Amino acid sequence: MASELKDRVALVTGASSGIGRATAIALVEAGFRVALVARNLERLLEVSRELPADRFVVIAQDLTEFDQLADLVQTVETKLDPVDLLVNNAGVAYVAPLEQMPLSDWNQVMALNLTVPLALAQKVLPGMRQRQRGTIINIVSIAGQRTFPNWGAYCASKFGLLAFSRTLAEEVRGDGIRVTALCPGSVDTALWDSEHVKADFDRSAMLSADSVARLVVWAATLPPEAVLEEATLMPSRGAF
Ligand SMILES: NC(=O)c1ccc[n+]([C@@H]2O[C@H](COP(=O)([O-])OP(=O)(O)OC[C@H]3O[C@@H](n4cnc5c(N)ncnc54)[C@H](OP(=O)(O)O)[C@@H]3O)[C@@H](O)[C@H]2O)c1
Repeated sequence: MASELKDRVALVTGASSGIGRATAIALVEAGFRVALVARNLERLLEVSRELPADRFVVIAQDLTEFDQLADLVQTVETKLDPVDLLVNNAGVAYVAPLEQMPLSDWNQVMALNLTVPLALAQKVLPGMRQRQRGTIINIVSIAGQRTFPNWGAYCASKFGLLAFSRTLAEEVRGDGIRVTALCPGSVDTALWDSEHVKADFDRSAMLSADSVARLVVWAATLPPEAVLEEATLMPSRGAF
């Protein structure tokens, strides 16, 4: 890793599982110090056992409690340093025909998948502008480019996240801040085990979380004059 990137601080949401877990570990291996955020403290601690003690902090927090996000970022900055890389990864799926989708489930999907990335970006952007550098990577999905029956809430949130990502990129590029939208196809993670996702797909044909993490690290460690604006990463053998 280039020496100017070494020791920089990354905040990874949803770091207790799947893509976020793999990303947090890969970023530490690449030289970042990482704040791992999710609700489940036990699982976060389990991930952190794989990491050297001086390279991370663990913060158990429900990110949809928006009034606590300022404190969250403040804690990261106090314990580590200002956030140079924000990985908006935490996400949830509720699967049902739109006609029957409870509004409470719809709101939960929108809150975590779409509003949290905005709220966190608003917390880290002032510092990034001041330093004239920073990277925000949004984990979108192939469901941000294509629609799937029964996945309407999830698709709407991810189409929204892609639009958010593209708009933000235009708004901040003048200050040397990079915004990346990564759209993976299906990834073999606990998302598919959720009681809210009733899907019986061939998990062996899905991407691994490690493959997505590699792309995150690659985008995050590009030279500062380059930005990966969007990427679609598909399983080579899977259907989507
Ligand atoms: N799996 C796929 O096929 C796939 C494909 C494309 C994109 N994605 C996207 O990739 C991202 C990660 O998904 P994944 O597949 O890795 O799923 P996952 O294994 O279920 O991980 C989801 C993460 O989000 C965290 N989370 C959920 N609700 C939260 C909340 N209210 N506050 C804070 N953290 C919360 C979970 O931790 P806690 O439960 O501990 O809070 C967990 O760490 C999501 O945005 C997903 O949409 C997934």
